[in-house]
Amino acid sequence: QSGKNQGQMKQIVVNGSETQVVVDDSNLLQKKISAIRLGGPAKLQVIADFDATLTKYRIDGCRGQSSHNVLQQEDPEFNDKRQKLYEYYHPLEFDPTIPLDEKTKLMEEWWGKTHALLIEGGVTYNGIQNSVAKATIAFRDGVTELLELLEEKGVPVLIFSAGLADIIEEVLKQKVHRSFKNVRVVSNRMVFDENGHLRSFKGKTIHVLNKNEHALDMAAPLHDHFDDVNGLSEEKSALKKRTNVLLLGDHIGDLGMSDGLDYETRISVGFLNDRVEDSLESYRKAFDILYLNDSSVHGVLKLATHLC
Ligand code: TMP
Repeated sequence: QSGKNQGQMKQIVVNGSETQVVVDDSNLLQKKISAIRLGGPAKLQVIADFDATLTKYRIDGCRGQSSHNVLQQEDPEFNDKRQKLYEYYHPLEFDPTIPLDEKTKLMEEWWGKTHALLIEGGVTYNGIQNSVAKATIAFRDGVTELLELLEEKGVPVLIFSAGLADIIEEVLKQKVHRSFKNVRVVSNRMVFDENGHLRSFKGKTIHVLNKNEHALDMAAPLHDHFDDVNGLSEEKSALKKRTNVLLLGDHIGDLGMSDGLDYETRISVGFLNDRVEDSLESYRKAFDILYLNDSSVHGVLKLATHLC
C-alpha cells in the first residue's frame, strides 16, 4: 500500500466554515501538485463545469436553479412545455439501462426541442436579464476570489456547460459584478437579430453526452469575434499548450471535459452534492479531491494559490 492514505474522510475548517473532504490517494495528489507547481501558471489552465460545480446545489434549503431552469419566457405556455420536456427526458438522462447511442439520440432530441421552443416562444436579452435577476442561483463561496486569483496569474478558465452560455454570462455579470478577461464560456450560445430577439443558436449543440468531447474545439470566444477564425484558432492552440489542468466538476462524466486536450498532469476536484452514500465510493476513486455537502471553493482557492 506504500503509505497510501486509504481515502479517509476529513473534517476540515477552511475560512471559518466546516467542510468534508476526501482524498483517495494523497501520495498521488502530492506528486501531481509538485508537477503542476514546477510547470507554473504559464502551463496551467482550469476547466470547470458550471451548474452545481461553480454554483451552489442548495440555496436556503431549496435546489438552486440551472442555467436552463433560470430562463423564463414571457408566454408561460412555453415555460410549461419546456418543463414537460424536462419531466420526460431528465429521468432518461440518468437511466442506466438505456444504451449510450440511444441515450445520445434522446439528449439531442431534448436539446433540439428545448432550443426550438426558446426560439418559437421568444427570448430577448432583456428577458434574460430579468430572469437572472429573479433566479435562485448563487456561486459557491470563494468563486469570485478564485477567478480573481486565476486572472491575476494569467491562468485561463474554461467554463464548460450543456446549459446556456448567455445565461451563464449574465449570472457572472449580476452575481460577481465584473467580467474576467481569462474566462471563456463554452456552452450553447444564442444569436439575436437586430431587434434583440433570439433567432438561432451558434454552432454545434452541446448536450450532456457530447460535452465530454473536444471541449476546446467547440470553444467560442466570450465576445462576438466568433467569425475571427484566426484569432480563435490562435487562442485554442495557446490553450492546448497549457498541458496542466485543474478540473472541477460535479459528475463523473465531467472528467471528460479535458478529453480534447493532451494533458500532462491533471488534478480533478469533485463536488458530491446529493445521495452521498450511493456515490461516495465511485466519486472518491474518480476525483483526486472530493468535497461533500455543497462545500465552498475555499479549499480549491488554497490549492490554486499553491499551484500558481
Ligand atoms: P450541465 O450543466 O452539467 O452541463 O448539464 C446541463 C443540465 O441541464 C442537464 O442536467 C439537463 C439540464 N436541462 C434542463 O434543465 N432543461 C433543459 O431544457 C435541458 C435541455 C437540459
